Amino acid sequence: MTTVDLPLLPLGRGTDPLSERGVECPGDLPAASDPDLVARARAAKEALGDRVFVLGHHYQRDEVIQFADVTGDSFKLARDAAARPEAEFIVFCGVHFMAESADILTGPHQRVVLPDLAAGCSMADMARIAQVEKAWEALAEAGVRDQVVPVTYMNSSAAIKAFCGRNGGVVCTSSNAEVALEWAFAQKGPDTKVLFLPDQHLGRNTAVLDLGYSLDDCVVWNPHKPGGGLTAEELRDAKVILWKGHCSVHGRFSPDVIDDLRAKIPDLNVIVHPECRHEVVLKADHVGSTEHIIKTIEAAPAGSSWAIGTELNLVQRLANAHPDKNIVFLDRNVCYCSTMNRIDLPHLVWAMESLVEGVVVNQIEVDPQTEQEALVALQRMLDLPGKSHRD
Ligand code: 13P
Ligand code: SF4
Repeated sequence: MTTVDLPLLPLGRGTDPLSERGVECPGDLPAASDPDLVARARAAKEALGDRVFVLGHHYQRDEVIQFADVTGDSFKLARDAAARPEAEFIVFCGVHFMAESADILTGPHQRVVLPDLAAGCSMADMARIAQVEKAWEALAEAGVRDQVVPVTYMNSSAAIKAFCGRNGGVVCTSSNAEVALEWAFAQKGPDTKVLFLPDQHLGRNTAVLDLGYSLDDCVVWNPHKPGGGLTAEELRDAKVILWKGHCSVHGRFSPDVIDDLRAKIPDLNVIVHPECRHEVVLKADHVGSTEHIIKTIEAAPAGSSWAIGTELNLVQRLANAHPDKNIVFLDRNVCYCSTMNRIDLPHLVWAMESLVEGVVVNQIEVDPQTEQEALVALQRMLDLPGKSHRD
């Protein structure tokens, strides 16, 4: 089996329908220097009233978050989008896979808008449907496929979610990966294996730290190598087959920075997102989704010290909201998610003013077949019992 490496597109230029990267803005954006941007956003939102519902992921810029009707992690936003059937327009301030999920979970009368189509996700791009279908074939050739349940992180294309839906699998988020994996392992008896897409770190951290599997139970499927780079025997012995994907933002955090900070700051608490590498999570005191990180900091006593390993917009917002706590960022360098940051005030103003004029721009529409199959996997996630201990 050979795989073809697709060329990388500079963000926002050209079209790559197979990727999360999207296309350049098809309209005239207001200038970023326009002093009236805030007033224009406010006026457009007021004019739209209940017809519009603005969702904001925690990694969005402050200038955008101020206009969100609700904020949340991917799990909360998926539920919030589904719970607003009266809103004609869902403006999703997040990234492409989140807007796709919102389109799948909302009614046919509702239209989902992503203010900048270049707001993709490099992790979601690391699992293309053709690669996953090839892997599925290879698992059959290795004689293990009948035991495998696919689980995909929310951070994946609708096509991958549909793949999980039609193959008895489920979607998970960083809030519920533990219960999703427990559900998956209960599907095919004691010999069940899980194919976890596309974030190897969330899959490994959850399987090992929450479910008690060993690192040796996990193998990594490399889509750029024939047979994933694994032998049939390795596949037969594995319990968890981790897709070789990662988040370029959370992949930056490293254990030596934790050691340095602990040496400098007395009684430091370290909290990280489960997209961080296993060796980082092992050194942290707490691990959880963005929603969990926020709740933990809110509940922390005044005077406590925290190093936070997640995207910088959220860490800065938490530091500003809690001046009574000592909050530091867990990386030596600036660490924004560049695609989340694509959604800025000019794009939001442009999207909402267009809606006021009756023009729906940047609509995210999943085709009906994909939608139907992806909904099966998303609904399985929404029906999972309870939530993880992290929430
Ligand atoms: P959560 O919203 O699930 O915490 O995920 C973080 C993330 O990287 C979203 O892209
Ligand atoms: Fe993707 Fe990571 Fe950015 Fe989230 S933070 S959108 S996983 S690149």
